[in-house]
Amino acid sequence: MLSSTSFHRFSSITHGISKVANEVLWIGVNDWDLREFHSMETPIGTSYNSYLIQSSQPTIIDAVKYTLADEWISRLSSVYPNGLKEIKNIVLNHAEPDHSSGIVKLLEKAPHIKLILTQKNLDTISRFYNSSKWNVQIIQGGTPFEIGNKTLILAEVPMAHWPESGVTYFPEKKILFSNDAFGQHIATTKRFYDEIDPSLYYTEAKSYYANILMKHGKPVLNAIKKVAGLPGVDMVLPSHGVGFRRPEDIGKIIKLYTNWANQTPEKKISVIYDCNWFGTERMAHAIANGAGKLVEVNCLHARRTHITHIAADALDSAALAVGSSVLHDNVLPDLAMNLQYLRCLSVKNKLGALFGTYGWNPTVLPKEIRSQLFLPTKVKEVVEPFIVKWSPSEADLQKCEEIGKTIAESVIELLQQQK
Ligand code: FEO
Repeated sequence: MLSSTSFHRFSSITHGISKVANEVLWIGVNDWDLREFHSMETPIGTSYNSYLIQSSQPTIIDAVKYTLADEWISRLSSVYPNGLKEIKNIVLNHAEPDHSSGIVKLLEKAPHIKLILTQKNLDTISRFYNSSKWNVQIIQGGTPFEIGNKTLILAEVPMAHWPESGVTYFPEKKILFSNDAFGQHIATTKRFYDEIDPSLYYTEAKSYYANILMKHGKPVLNAIKKVAGLPGVDMVLPSHGVGFRRPEDIGKIIKLYTNWANQTPEKKISVIYDCNWFGTERMAHAIANGAGKLVEVNCLHARRTHITHIAADALDSAALAVGSSVLHDNVLPDLAMNLQYLRCLSVKNKLGALFGTYGWNPTVLPKEIRSQLFLPTKVKEVVEPFIVKWSPSEADLQKCEEIGKTIAESVIELLQQQK
């Protein structure tokens, strides 16, 4: 265990370590330069949060990405100048390599460290790494286990994000190590929500939810129920970005997650389109103008907007207006990619409309937009498709404004019904 003298030793030169609670240290790493995380844009990097509980058997919660493991291990070594032999355990909540791959390097240097995890997690990480020589303790999800003079509980939260996903609860401090849940891709030296710009937090937390977890709404709601059943949570420490230590902040993130998991519609429309020769773009702008008098609208050009941002915008929009020009017998390719991505993320509870331009086959757009997105995700169309030949006239654009107004009125009516 770290003595007060040795804590003082590194408290003047912190090696990037933060004390997040008594006997709990952040020992993770920032991936400052990360700009992409399995197809999601990460404009300000991310962090892989790892924590050290200074019990009589010092225990790490979650590892970091392999490429940054040296920094993680040097941080751990600065806490234990007598060597890594003082560290006894590492608890692994989740097998995805951003939280597991660093153990390969750690266990090469300190093979005595016991890996504590569920059978399902061991089965998964054993597909990524050769675990045959590792010192492993399998635990039952939900059953308390000792780490020396302290106790932890690892609760399984399947599909939040992978089947083996778990969270670890530290009852003595009422800390929840929530792994992917409640995370954000933010690289920062700050450790808590109350230390950063709330609008930056909101943007990145929403983008993270939309792109990583939107598909898993039900499992996320189940995980929230499990958290609500714990005997109190005073601190939530996710494995990416900042954590939460004020009751009002914990309440806020749980409310946001509940709304996002239900895809609760806001008074908002996403106009998502692609265009070759201005026609569909002018139609999109006219629809946005018509709707924008009544509701919030975002107009998103599929070729100029990263899928990450379109997914985040669609998450809480009550309606999707989707437009394209025809390319041979299909929609334009960047729009097709977005339709595939939104389908893959399982957008739900959306009203919809489709529009665009064609040269010689007016049946392509309704058929393709419906089959690629609207039918599989049960988008409810509130106006007839509006497809014009080659390029819209002034009268067509006037009709687009009216269509925008109709979509907005449908959104308002829907929200009133849901009150
Ligand atoms: Fe941050 Fe599912 O890993």
